[in-house]
Amino acid sequence: MSNVSARYMKAMLHAARKAGAVVRRHYLSETLEVRKKSAQGDLVSIADLEAEREILSILRRAFPDASMVAEESGGSHESGAAFYVDPVDGTLNFVHGVPFFAVSIGCWIDGAAAAGVVLNPLSGDIYTAVHGAGARKNGKPIGVSGALSLKDSLIATGWPYDRDNRARLFSEMDRLYVGSQELRAFGCASLGFCLVAEGAFDGYWEWDLKPWDMAAGALIVTEAGGTVSSLSGGAFDLGSGRVAASNGRIHAELVGALGA
Ligand code: IPD
Ligand code: CA
Ligand code: CA
Repeated sequence: MSNVSARYMKAMLHAARKAGAVVRRHYLSETLEVRKKSAQGDLVSIADLEAEREILSILRRAFPDASMVAEESGGSHESGAAFYVDPVDGTLNFVHGVPFFAVSIGCWIDGAAAAGVVLNPLSGDIYTAVHGAGARKNGKPIGVSGALSLKDSLIATGWPYDRDNRARLFSEMDRLYVGSQELRAFGCASLGFCLVAEGAFDGYWEWDLKPWDMAAGALIVTEAGGTVSSLSGGAFDLGSGRVAASNGRIHAELVGALGA
């Protein structure tokens, strides 16, 4: 790992751990303040806001010239280094007491993924990747599964906030449910990627995502030896909101079944 990557990783780990402590402190609180954002399932809580403030203050201090693109406070990426921050990925789970949510921080430099950290604040599991240096869980190298076909694969997806296109989602789910072992949709995109990276899920697809949902997880999958692409198998685009991720071996079948 280069010195530059090591500096990014150090700051991102520190920020994720601090945010994780904030999120844990608020988890299951009976007085948690929550409000609705764009859709009925799109919520923000005081924990999201406090955790994001913590992350941004650490990253800004370490990298004053970097762009910050964060879910709750916005921001845009010009050029150079950009941090994509999701302080609580899976807010709906968090608010309901479902123990499946994460802190996700991705660093991209001039449009290419450089480093990613995804922390499950409850289990303490921390997934990391640096471009060219592999993916790790709690410091140990991880790799994608060996499944060779869709029919031997467990596939994950997610629920878009925008319900207008649900017919498309249900037809994709129909094809994938018929073609695979089974489907899962646990409500935390970043952990979906990480479960592909460690070989638990064999594939994952989702659309209507934001850059902060994918910036860390997509790199963690590719560094674990997997494939990340558009829904039709083309180049992955962080701004597109769409992704298909897999162990690579089943990728053609996965995107074929999506039929985008
Ligand atoms: C959401 C989660 C969910 C996905 C949504 C995301 P949020 O993030 O990752 O799994 O289906 O599209 O927006 O809003 O909880 O940070
Ligand atoms: Ca998210
Ligand atoms: Ca979030």
